[in-house]
Amino acid sequence: MFETDKEVLDWYERQPRALSKEYVNSIRWNEVKNYPVNPAFIPVLIYMRDIEYFTDMYYQELRRTPTGKDPVIRKFMDRWSIEELHHGNLLNRFLEEAGIRTGKNWQAEATRKIPRLYTIGSYLVDHSSRPFGKYFHGAHMVWGAINEITAMNAYRRLSDLAGHPVLKQLLIGIVQEESIHSSFYWNVARVKLRETQFSRNLARFIIGKFWKPVGQGAKPQDEANYVISTLWPGKEGLDLFDQKIGNRIERLPGFLGFKGLTERVAPIVQV
Ligand SMILES: [Fe+2]
Ligand SMILES: [Fe+2]
Repeated sequence: MFETDKEVLDWYERQPRALSKEYVNSIRWNEVKNYPVNPAFIPVLIYMRDIEYFTDMYYQELRRTPTGKDPVIRKFMDRWSIEELHHGNLLNRFLEEAGIRTGKNWQAEATRKIPRLYTIGSYLVDHSSRPFGKYFHGAHMVWGAINEITAMNAYRRLSDLAGHPVLKQLLIGIVQEESIHSSFYWNVARVKLRETQFSRNLARFIIGKFWKPVGQGAKPQDEANYVISTLWPGKEGLDLFDQKIGNRIERLPGFLGFKGLTERVAPIVQV
């Protein structure tokens, strides 16, 4: 267990990249075409690719908030944003190898489709977080932890459900990096939330009121819903979501008994 956010950063910086050049070169890209990709998962892959790519936009936004100005978090984000962008590019490569024409301009295309409401929303986050200053770090870190833990589990599910050996190889690397990101956010959140009761109350309030599944906002709601209901369908899916994602957040200070995430997802997976 870490006592300070600096210790968490030092740990993060000691972690080698799972998606090293050697690992990426060892992926059997030329065999992608030998196995079918279930068409139901193509929109899921595209969604994931775009969200990974949007990390940079999110990073630019966060830099303007009190959290983004924190030197430890800032240092983490410099490396983290590069890794996420790499995930986006690797997912795009997989799609291309599978014969799905994504086009040279997929990044511009994805950005162009971001709803204007999202831009307004991020402006509000920027300004509403400012008065709370350092108390806001906890909420930000919980939010990040939820997104990373969700991403990690989403990739695991996709890997299991798609049954594509080359995709699996790629996702093993991505999952490993998402797991490291999750640990960073989760542990910094723990450190920050332990500091004051006010941080705990603020974080629980903000997550309970405003949390939306990762990417929603930058992506239309029906696309986010499609991804969630494809990866975690029905009662069984919801239980899994609660077990793997909800429970881990509940273990953070101030989040005991918090069921906000699972409640938000329940109507989407139609339980
Ligand atoms: Fe990622
Ligand atoms: Fe990540």
